[in-house]
Amino acid sequence: MNKEEHKTSDVEEILNIKDLVVDYETEDGIIHAVNGVSLTLGKERTLGLVGETGAGKTTTALSVLNLIPNPPGVIKNGEILLNGKDVLKMTEKELEAMRGSDVAMIFQDPMTALNPVDTVGQQIAETILLHNEGISKKEAMKRAGEMLEVVGIPASRASEYPHQFSGGMKQRVVIAIGLSCNPKLLIADEPTTALDVTIQAQILDIMQNLKKQYQTSMIMITHDLGIVAKVCDEVAVMYAGRIVEYGSLRDIFKRTKHPYTEGLFDSLPNIKERSARLNPIPGLVPDPTVVQPGCAFAPRCRYATEACKMAVPELRCMGNGHYVACSAYDDPNFKIRKGEKVDG
Ligand SMILES: Nc1ncnc2c1ncn2[C@@H]1O[C@H](COP(=O)(O)OP(=O)(O)OP(=O)(O)O)[C@@H](O)[C@H]1O
Ligand SMILES: [Mg+2]
Repeated sequence: MNKEEHKTSDVEEILNIKDLVVDYETEDGIIHAVNGVSLTLGKERTLGLVGETGAGKTTTALSVLNLIPNPPGVIKNGEILLNGKDVLKMTEKELEAMRGSDVAMIFQDPMTALNPVDTVGQQIAETILLHNEGISKKEAMKRAGEMLEVVGIPASRASEYPHQFSGGMKQRVVIAIGLSCNPKLLIADEPTTALDVTIQAQILDIMQNLKKQYQTSMIMITHDLGIVAKVCDEVAVMYAGRIVEYGSLRDIFKRTKHPYTEGLFDSLPNIKERSARLNPIPGLVPDPTVVQPGCAFAPRCRYATEACKMAVPELRCMGNGHYVACSAYDDPNFKIRKGEKVDG
Protein backbone atom coordinates (compact mmCIF):
# COMPACT_ATOMS: atom_id res chain seq x y z
CA MET A 1 0.00 0.00 0.00
CA ASN A 2 1.03 3.63 -0.27
CA LYS A 3 3.22 5.16 2.38
CA GLU A 4 0.11 6.69 3.91
CA GLU A 5 -1.93 3.76 5.03
CA HIS A 6 -5.49 3.33 4.03
CA LYS A 7 -8.23 3.01 6.62
CA THR A 8 -11.69 1.53 6.33
CA SER A 9 -13.23 5.00 6.82
CA ASP A 10 -14.14 5.58 10.48
CA VAL A 11 -14.63 1.95 11.42
CA GLU A 12 -12.49 0.67 14.28
CA GLU A 13 -10.05 -1.88 12.92
CA ILE A 14 -9.55 -5.43 14.13
CA LEU A 15 -6.84 -6.47 11.68
CA ASN A 16 -4.01 -4.54 10.11
CA ILE A 17 -1.59 -6.38 7.84
CA LYS A 18 1.50 -4.38 6.92
CA ASP A 19 3.77 -5.26 4.02
CA LEU A 20 3.50 -9.04 4.33
CA VAL A 21 6.01 -11.06 2.32
CA VAL A 22 5.85 -14.87 2.29
CA ASP A 23 8.04 -17.30 0.34
CA TYR A 24 7.95 -21.06 0.01
CA GLU A 25 11.48 -22.34 -0.29
CA THR A 26 11.07 -25.48 -2.38
CA GLU A 27 13.52 -27.72 -4.20
CA ASP A 28 12.33 -26.24 -7.47
CA GLY A 29 13.07 -22.71 -6.37
CA ILE A 30 11.70 -19.99 -4.16
CA ILE A 31 8.01 -19.40 -4.69
CA HIS A 32 7.18 -15.77 -3.99
CA ALA A 33 3.63 -16.35 -2.78
CA VAL A 34 2.91 -13.02 -1.10
CA ASN A 35 4.87 -9.96 -2.22
CA GLY A 36 4.04 -7.09 0.10
CA VAL A 37 0.39 -7.22 1.06
CA SER A 38 -1.09 -4.52 3.29
CA LEU A 39 -4.70 -4.61 4.40
CA THR A 40 -6.98 -3.36 7.11
CA LEU A 41 -10.22 -4.90 8.25
CA GLY A 42 -12.77 -2.97 10.27
CA LYS A 43 -14.72 -4.44 13.17
CA GLU A 44 -17.82 -6.31 12.03
CA ARG A 45 -16.88 -5.77 8.37
CA THR A 46 -16.51 -8.44 5.72
CA LEU A 47 -13.57 -8.21 3.37
CA GLY A 48 -13.56 -10.24 0.18
CA LEU A 49 -10.18 -11.55 -0.96
CA VAL A 50 -10.46 -12.50 -4.61
CA GLY A 51 -8.11 -13.62 -7.34
CA GLU A 52 -7.17 -16.58 -9.49
CA THR A 53 -5.61 -19.76 -8.21
CA GLY A 54 -2.09 -19.19 -6.89
CA ALA A 55 -2.64 -15.49 -6.15
CA GLY A 56 -1.61 -15.97 -2.52
CA LYS A 57 -5.03 -15.76 -0.84
CA THR A 58 -4.68 -18.82 1.38
CA THR A 59 -1.08 -17.92 2.20
CA THR A 60 -2.23 -14.47 3.37
CA ALA A 61 -4.98 -16.06 5.47
CA LEU A 62 -2.68 -18.65 7.04
CA SER A 63 -0.26 -15.86 7.94
CA VAL A 64 -2.96 -14.17 10.01
CA LEU A 65 -3.05 -17.29 12.17
CA ASN A 66 0.73 -17.61 12.00
CA LEU A 67 0.14 -21.05 10.50
CA ILE A 68 2.39 -20.95 7.45
CA PRO A 69 3.88 -24.45 7.23
CA ASN A 70 7.61 -24.14 7.85
CA PRO A 71 9.39 -25.59 5.99
CA PRO A 72 8.89 -24.72 3.17
CA GLY A 73 7.07 -21.48 4.10
CA VAL A 74 8.92 -18.47 5.47
CA ILE A 75 7.39 -15.15 6.45
CA LYS A 76 10.08 -12.79 5.19
CA ASN A 77 8.59 -9.51 6.25
CA GLY A 78 5.53 -7.90 7.71
CA GLU A 79 3.42 -7.15 10.71
CA ILE A 80 0.03 -8.62 11.37
CA LEU A 81 -1.70 -6.60 14.03
CA LEU A 82 -4.72 -8.28 15.52
CA ASN A 83 -6.38 -5.78 17.83
CA GLY A 84 -3.03 -4.01 17.86
CA LYS A 85 -0.96 -7.07 18.78
CA ASP A 86 1.50 -8.54 16.28
CA VAL A 87 0.57 -12.15 15.60
CA LEU A 88 4.03 -12.79 14.17
CA LYS A 89 5.63 -11.94 17.52
CA MET A 90 3.31 -14.00 19.71
CA THR A 91 4.59 -16.89 21.82
CA GLU A 92 3.24 -20.40 21.17
CA LYS A 93 1.00 -19.98 24.18
CA GLU A 94 -0.41 -16.68 22.96
CA LEU A 95 -0.91 -18.18 19.52
CA GLU A 96 -2.81 -21.11 20.94
CA ALA A 97 -5.08 -18.77 22.86
CA MET A 98 -5.57 -16.59 19.78
CA ARG A 99 -6.44 -19.40 17.37
CA GLY A 100 -10.01 -20.39 17.81
CA SER A 101 -10.95 -17.77 20.34
CA ASP A 102 -9.91 -14.60 18.52
CA VAL A 103 -9.59 -15.97 15.01
CA ALA A 104 -11.13 -19.05 13.45
CA MET A 105 -10.58 -20.33 9.94
CA ILE A 106 -12.94 -22.39 7.83
CA PHE A 107 -11.19 -24.35 5.11
CA GLN A 108 -12.37 -25.23 1.64
CA ASP A 109 -12.67 -28.95 2.08
CA PRO A 110 -14.80 -29.93 5.07
CA MET A 111 -13.47 -33.48 5.05
CA THR A 112 -9.92 -32.46 5.87
CA ALA A 113 -11.23 -30.33 8.73
CA LEU A 114 -13.26 -33.13 10.32
CA ASN A 115 -11.93 -36.18 12.07
CA PRO A 116 -13.66 -39.32 10.71
CA VAL A 117 -13.39 -41.28 13.97
CA ASP A 118 -15.10 -38.81 16.34
CA THR A 119 -18.76 -37.82 16.32
CA VAL A 120 -19.50 -34.30 15.14
CA GLY A 121 -20.74 -33.45 18.63
CA GLN A 122 -17.44 -34.54 20.16
CA GLN A 123 -15.53 -32.44 17.66
CA ILE A 124 -17.48 -29.27 18.37
CA ALA A 125 -17.30 -29.94 22.12
CA GLU A 126 -13.54 -30.43 21.89
CA THR A 127 -13.08 -26.91 20.54
CA ILE A 128 -15.39 -25.51 23.18
CA LEU A 129 -13.45 -27.32 25.93
CA LEU A 130 -10.14 -26.10 24.54
CA HIS A 131 -11.18 -22.48 24.73
CA ASN A 132 -13.30 -22.37 27.87
CA GLU A 133 -11.40 -23.21 31.00
CA GLY A 134 -13.42 -24.83 33.74
CA ILE A 135 -16.34 -25.87 31.56
CA SER A 136 -17.51 -29.48 32.09
CA LYS A 137 -17.60 -32.09 29.32
CA LYS A 138 -21.33 -32.36 29.72
CA GLU A 139 -21.85 -28.62 29.36
CA ALA A 140 -19.55 -28.58 26.30
CA MET A 141 -21.62 -31.35 24.68
CA LYS A 142 -24.78 -29.41 25.40
CA ARG A 143 -23.33 -26.30 23.78
CA ALA A 144 -22.15 -28.40 20.83
CA GLY A 145 -25.75 -29.46 20.28
CA GLU A 146 -26.85 -25.83 20.42
CA MET A 147 -24.20 -24.86 17.86
CA LEU A 148 -25.50 -27.56 15.52
CA GLU A 149 -29.00 -26.10 15.84
CA VAL A 150 -27.56 -22.67 15.02
CA VAL A 151 -26.32 -23.96 11.67
CA GLY A 152 -29.61 -25.74 11.01
CA ILE A 153 -28.75 -29.30 12.05
CA PRO A 154 -30.87 -30.99 14.74
CA ALA A 155 -28.93 -31.35 18.01
CA SER A 156 -29.91 -35.01 18.05
CA ARG A 157 -27.44 -35.64 15.25
CA ALA A 158 -24.48 -34.70 17.44
CA SER A 159 -23.85 -38.39 18.07
CA GLU A 160 -23.33 -39.14 14.37
CA TYR A 161 -20.04 -39.38 12.49
CA PRO A 162 -18.96 -37.12 9.61
CA HIS A 163 -19.56 -39.83 6.99
CA GLN A 164 -23.24 -39.85 7.94
CA PHE A 165 -23.57 -36.22 6.76
CA SER A 166 -23.89 -34.76 3.26
CA GLY A 167 -21.22 -32.38 1.95
CA GLY A 168 -23.31 -29.33 2.77
CA MET A 169 -24.01 -30.56 6.28
CA LYS A 170 -20.34 -31.34 6.87
CA GLN A 171 -19.48 -27.80 5.87
CA ARG A 172 -22.11 -26.53 8.32
CA VAL A 173 -20.47 -28.62 11.03
CA VAL A 174 -17.14 -27.01 10.15
CA ILE A 175 -18.78 -23.59 10.42
CA ALA A 176 -20.27 -24.61 13.79
CA ILE A 177 -16.79 -25.57 14.99
CA GLY A 178 -15.39 -22.28 13.69
CA LEU A 179 -18.06 -20.26 15.44
CA SER A 180 -18.31 -22.31 18.61
CA CYS A 181 -15.82 -20.07 20.39
CA ASN A 182 -17.39 -16.87 19.20
CA PRO A 183 -14.29 -15.67 17.33
CA LYS A 184 -13.82 -11.98 16.69
CA LEU A 185 -12.49 -12.72 13.24
CA LEU A 186 -13.62 -15.51 10.99
CA ILE A 187 -11.58 -16.37 7.92
CA ALA A 188 -13.54 -18.41 5.43
CA ASP A 189 -11.34 -19.88 2.69
CA GLU A 190 -13.61 -20.84 -0.21
CA PRO A 191 -16.10 -22.26 2.28
CA THR A 192 -18.69 -23.23 -0.30
CA THR A 193 -16.68 -24.04 -3.42
CA ALA A 194 -17.19 -27.78 -3.05
CA LEU A 195 -20.96 -27.44 -2.71
CA ASP A 196 -23.78 -27.13 -5.19
CA VAL A 197 -25.38 -23.75 -5.77
CA THR A 198 -28.48 -24.18 -3.59
CA ILE A 199 -26.54 -25.46 -0.59
CA GLN A 200 -23.97 -22.74 -1.20
CA ALA A 201 -26.69 -20.07 -0.92
CA GLN A 202 -28.03 -21.64 2.28
CA ILE A 203 -24.60 -21.71 3.88
CA LEU A 204 -23.88 -18.12 2.91
CA ASP A 205 -27.18 -17.10 4.49
CA ILE A 206 -26.32 -18.97 7.67
CA MET A 207 -22.91 -17.31 7.79
CA GLN A 208 -24.42 -13.87 7.23
CA ASN A 209 -26.90 -14.34 10.04
CA LEU A 210 -24.30 -15.69 12.44
CA LYS A 211 -21.98 -12.85 11.61
CA LYS A 212 -24.64 -10.34 12.55
CA GLN A 213 -25.62 -12.24 15.65
CA TYR A 214 -22.07 -12.59 16.96
CA GLN A 215 -20.69 -9.30 15.55
CA THR A 216 -17.85 -11.16 13.88
CA SER A 217 -15.50 -9.59 11.36
CA MET A 218 -14.85 -11.76 8.36
CA ILE A 219 -12.44 -12.36 5.52
CA MET A 220 -14.15 -14.21 2.71
CA ILE A 221 -11.74 -15.82 0.27
CA THR A 222 -13.34 -16.75 -3.00
CA HIS A 223 -13.02 -16.95 -6.78
CA ASP A 224 -16.69 -16.17 -7.05
CA LEU A 225 -17.65 -12.53 -7.56
CA GLY A 226 -21.30 -13.50 -6.99
CA ILE A 227 -20.41 -14.49 -3.43
CA VAL A 228 -18.44 -11.27 -3.01
CA ALA A 229 -21.46 -9.23 -4.10
CA LYS A 230 -23.62 -11.07 -1.63
CA VAL A 231 -21.55 -10.85 1.54
CA CYS A 232 -18.69 -8.33 1.32
CA ASP A 233 -18.37 -4.71 2.38
CA GLU A 234 -14.87 -4.23 1.00
CA VAL A 235 -12.92 -6.16 -1.61
CA ALA A 236 -9.21 -6.75 -2.17
CA VAL A 237 -8.29 -8.16 -5.57
CA MET A 238 -5.04 -10.15 -5.52
CA TYR A 239 -2.79 -10.99 -8.42
CA ALA A 240 0.56 -12.77 -8.17
CA GLY A 241 0.97 -12.13 -4.46
CA ARG A 242 -0.03 -8.49 -4.51
CA ILE A 243 -3.18 -6.51 -4.01
CA VAL A 244 -3.89 -4.80 -7.31
CA GLU A 245 -7.16 -3.15 -6.36
CA TYR A 246 -8.89 -2.43 -3.09
CA GLY A 247 -12.12 -0.64 -2.39
CA SER A 248 -15.71 -0.78 -1.28
CA LEU A 249 -17.95 -3.35 -2.93
CA ARG A 250 -19.44 -0.53 -4.99
CA ASP A 251 -16.01 0.76 -6.09
CA ILE A 252 -14.94 -2.65 -7.24
CA PHE A 253 -18.16 -3.50 -9.05
CA LYS A 254 -19.27 -0.14 -10.39
CA ARG A 255 -16.06 1.86 -10.62
CA THR A 256 -13.64 -0.92 -11.54
CA LYS A 257 -10.15 0.46 -12.07
CA HIS A 258 -7.66 -2.37 -12.51
CA PRO A 259 -7.47 -4.18 -15.86
CA TYR A 260 -7.22 -7.47 -13.97
CA THR A 261 -10.41 -6.80 -12.02
CA GLU A 262 -12.03 -5.87 -15.31
CA GLY A 263 -10.87 -9.21 -16.70
CA LEU A 264 -12.40 -11.04 -13.76
CA PHE A 265 -15.76 -9.44 -14.48
CA ASP A 266 -15.54 -10.13 -18.21
CA SER A 267 -14.88 -13.79 -17.47
CA LEU A 268 -18.05 -14.08 -15.39
CA PRO A 269 -20.99 -15.90 -16.84
CA ASN A 270 -23.80 -13.45 -17.32
CA ILE A 271 -26.08 -14.08 -14.37
CA LYS A 272 -29.26 -13.39 -16.32
CA GLU A 273 -28.38 -15.46 -19.36
CA ARG A 274 -26.17 -18.26 -18.14
CA SER A 275 -25.53 -19.24 -21.73
CA ALA A 276 -23.78 -15.97 -22.54
CA ARG A 277 -20.22 -16.40 -23.80
CA LEU A 278 -17.41 -15.87 -21.36
CA ASN A 279 -14.28 -13.93 -22.08
CA PRO A 280 -11.62 -15.61 -19.98
CA ILE A 281 -8.51 -13.51 -19.37
CA PRO A 282 -6.04 -14.66 -22.00
CA GLY A 283 -2.66 -16.00 -20.92
CA LEU A 284 -1.45 -17.66 -17.76
CA VAL A 285 -0.57 -16.50 -14.27
CA PRO A 286 3.16 -15.78 -14.02
CA ASP A 287 5.68 -18.26 -12.68
CA PRO A 288 5.85 -17.46 -8.95
CA THR A 289 9.54 -18.37 -8.77
CA VAL A 290 10.51 -15.58 -11.16
CA VAL A 291 10.81 -12.04 -9.81
CA GLN A 292 9.18 -9.71 -12.30
CA PRO A 293 10.73 -6.31 -12.82
CA GLY A 294 7.40 -4.81 -13.85
CA CYS A 295 3.69 -5.31 -13.32
CA ALA A 296 3.00 -9.05 -13.07
CA PHE A 297 -0.23 -8.63 -15.02
CA ALA A 298 1.36 -6.75 -17.93
CA PRO A 299 1.85 -9.84 -20.17
CA ARG A 300 -1.92 -10.47 -20.06
CA CYS A 301 -3.08 -6.87 -20.02
CA ARG A 302 -4.72 -5.34 -23.06
CA TYR A 303 -3.65 -1.85 -21.98
CA ALA A 304 -0.03 -2.68 -21.18
CA THR A 305 2.71 -0.39 -22.50
CA GLU A 306 6.48 -0.66 -22.32
CA ALA A 307 6.40 1.35 -19.08
CA CYS A 308 4.41 -1.42 -17.38
CA LYS A 309 7.30 -3.84 -17.82
CA MET A 310 9.78 -1.51 -16.11
CA ALA A 311 8.54 -1.11 -12.54
CA VAL A 312 6.01 -2.70 -10.23
CA PRO A 313 3.20 -0.17 -9.85
CA GLU A 314 2.44 1.00 -6.31
CA LEU A 315 -1.02 0.84 -4.92
CA ARG A 316 -2.28 4.41 -5.08
CA CYS A 317 -5.40 6.06 -3.81
CA MET A 318 -7.90 7.11 -6.46
CA GLY A 319 -10.07 8.83 -3.86
CA ASN A 320 -12.33 7.70 -1.06
CA GLY A 321 -10.52 4.54 -0.02
CA HIS A 322 -10.35 3.16 -3.55
CA TYR A 323 -6.83 1.96 -4.40
CA VAL A 324 -5.33 0.65 -7.61
CA ALA A 325 -1.86 -0.54 -8.61
CA CYS A 326 -1.66 0.30 -12.30
CA SER A 327 0.78 2.54 -14.18
CA ALA A 328 -1.81 3.34 -16.83
CA TYR A 329 -3.26 5.87 -14.38
CA ASP A 330 -0.12 7.95 -14.77
CA ASP A 331 -2.20 9.27 -17.64
CA PRO A 332 -5.02 11.14 -15.91
CA ASN A 333 -7.33 10.47 -18.85
CA PHE A 334 -6.91 6.71 -18.74
CA LYS A 335 -10.11 4.68 -18.45
CA ILE A 336 -10.71 0.97 -18.69
CA ARG A 337 -13.27 -0.24 -21.20
CA LYS A 338 -15.16 -2.55 -18.85
CA GLY A 339 -18.07 -4.29 -20.51
CA GLU A 340 -16.88 -3.73 -24.07
CA LYS A 341 -15.96 -6.75 -26.17
CA VAL A 342 -12.25 -7.45 -26.13
CA ASP A 343 -11.85 -7.14 -29.89
CA GLY A 344 -14.89 -4.92 -30.50
N1 LIG B 1 2.99 -25.57 1.18
C1 LIG B 1 3.41 -25.03 0.04
N2 LIG B 1 4.59 -25.38 -0.51
C2 LIG B 1 5.02 -24.82 -1.65
N3 LIG B 1 4.34 -23.91 -2.35
C3 LIG B 1 3.16 -23.50 -1.87
C4 LIG B 1 2.62 -24.05 -0.66
N4 LIG B 1 1.42 -23.47 -0.44
C5 LIG B 1 1.22 -22.62 -1.47
N5 LIG B 1 2.26 -22.63 -2.32
C6 LIG B 1 2.42 -21.81 -3.55
O1 LIG B 1 2.27 -20.44 -3.19
C7 LIG B 1 1.53 -19.73 -4.17
C8 LIG B 1 0.30 -19.11 -3.51
O2 LIG B 1 -0.56 -20.18 -3.10
P1 LIG B 1 -1.90 -19.96 -2.31
O3 LIG B 1 -2.38 -21.30 -1.90
O4 LIG B 1 -1.71 -18.94 -1.25
O5 LIG B 1 -2.85 -19.35 -3.45
P2 LIG B 1 -4.43 -19.15 -3.47
O6 LIG B 1 -4.67 -17.76 -3.95
O7 LIG B 1 -5.02 -19.54 -2.17
O8 LIG B 1 -4.87 -20.16 -4.62
P3 LIG B 1 -6.21 -21.08 -4.75
O9 LIG B 1 -7.26 -20.17 -5.29
O10 LIG B 1 -5.81 -22.14 -5.71
O11 LIG B 1 -6.53 -21.62 -3.39
C9 LIG B 1 1.22 -20.72 -5.27
O12 LIG B 1 2.19 -20.60 -6.26
C10 LIG B 1 1.33 -22.06 -4.56
O13 LIG B 1 1.70 -23.08 -5.47
MG1 LIG C 1 -6.34 -21.02 -1.58
